[in-house]
Amino acid sequence: MTDNINYIDRIPNNVDLGRDRVLQRALEHWQPAYMGWWYDMGPTESHNYDVYLRTAVSVDPEGWAQFDYVKMPEYRWGIFLVPPTADRQVNFGVNKGQAAWQEVPGEYRSSLRRLIVTQGDTEPASVEQQRMLGMSCPSLYDLRNIFQVNVEEGRHLWAMVYLLHRYFGRDGREEAESLLERRSGDVDNPRILGAFNEPTPDWLAFFMFTFFTDRDGKYQLSSLAESGFDPLARTCRFMLTEEAHHMFVGETGVGRIVQRTAELMAEQKLEDPDSVRAFGVIDLQTMQRYLNFHYSVTLDLFGSDISSNAASFYTNGLKGRFEETRVKDDHVLSDTTYDVHEVAHGQIVAKGVPALTALNERLRDDYIREVQSGVERWNRIIAKTGVAFRLALPHKGFHREIGNFAGHHITPDGRVVSESEWNDQAHEWLPSQADYSYVQSLMAGRVVEPGKFANWIAPPRAGINNQPLNFEYVRFN
Ligand SMILES: [Fe+2]
Ligand SMILES: [Fe+2]
Repeated sequence: MTDNINYIDRIPNNVDLGRDRVLQRALEHWQPAYMGWWYDMGPTESHNYDVYLRTAVSVDPEGWAQFDYVKMPEYRWGIFLVPPTADRQVNFGVNKGQAAWQEVPGEYRSSLRRLIVTQGDTEPASVEQQRMLGMSCPSLYDLRNIFQVNVEEGRHLWAMVYLLHRYFGRDGREEAESLLERRSGDVDNPRILGAFNEPTPDWLAFFMFTFFTDRDGKYQLSSLAESGFDPLARTCRFMLTEEAHHMFVGETGVGRIVQRTAELMAEQKLEDPDSVRAFGVIDLQTMQRYLNFHYSVTLDLFGSDISSNAASFYTNGLKGRFEETRVKDDHVLSDTTYDVHEVAHGQIVAKGVPALTALNERLRDDYIREVQSGVERWNRIIAKTGVAFRLALPHKGFHREIGNFAGHHITPDGRVVSESEWNDQAHEWLPSQADYSYVQSLMAGRVVEPGKFANWIAPPRAGINNQPLNFEYVRFN
């Protein structure tokens, strides 16, 4: 195991794959199936493009990436774990203080497999959701960015499949095959989690998705990076370095759309959405509705507010809290409580429950804090133009299908209302078919002239890897 990645083998890796012939053969058998999936479900019509991509060359924090033109099917997908930490221990739960496990403890086998499969399933799902977007890109810069996100999600699938093959025997190999068989949005064989079966029909949805939903990925990976099962912890640590770029794409993408609209509103003294749309840009109200949608479906990904599964994952040392080792408490949580919210007699009320059972809700709250500061950064872009409009996160009970709020009708400002009242106003809160049609009408074709950007989005502040904005980030051949 070294920091540097072996690119001589058919499967790039830093886990000395060549020493385990059986495993290597199993993965070499899975590889063509993966390529078949990429050709079918990867970005449409993209297979012959030369894309200015970064490829991992080392897992050490300095200089892990190398930039060059790559045809995506030739991207060096592989298996990269951060190096082991000497004497690492299980840092929480009843096994706290044991040496971290290098093999799967028999009694936790099915729980760990389930955690890995659930995480792994999201990775190809997002590639499937985004596969048509290259046809309507707002610039070569943005096209390159979505392709970078896509190949890295493909690699995250590799990361989880490595764990399944290496540590879970025949069951693991079967799960690895199923990961290539489910399809986002498929009626008969959908992806496991709800948000990963929603369409990502346009670039505003893509940027919202990478801001909100990839960030759920960050929080899930962060808590798996605390796992007592050391190979899982190490592979998640490396995935997190890639995830940061996906969230950057989302935050700056939405920020640039916000900027373009707000600047135009200030310049032309526009207020109502129709007059904004007349200039061919996306009104801030529509952006708020997209935000409400992506935020609420992403909150559901954290699971039920009260969860005995989450409690046992924690107690057994399989999945920690966000930044577990930095939290100052006993890391066992048997005597503490945590507030969750529920609807009682038409009101939202807080209720203290055993902290162990509320770990999903706690992770969701950690996530909400980080998302809130991103929304504030968007609001600063608007404020700079003098336009009086603020984006806001809706109440966390808004539009929820999982947990204590499921089945209730909660407005963005946190009022419990009747179903009919909710239905009357839902079009003000969530994107309507007309909103989607309008946004898609702006994205009828792709913008591919180097240095050009679609009318509805501002250029970014800087290019990729210090290249100029008019760099040819993608060559179509
Ligand atoms: Fe990912
Ligand atoms: Fe991601």
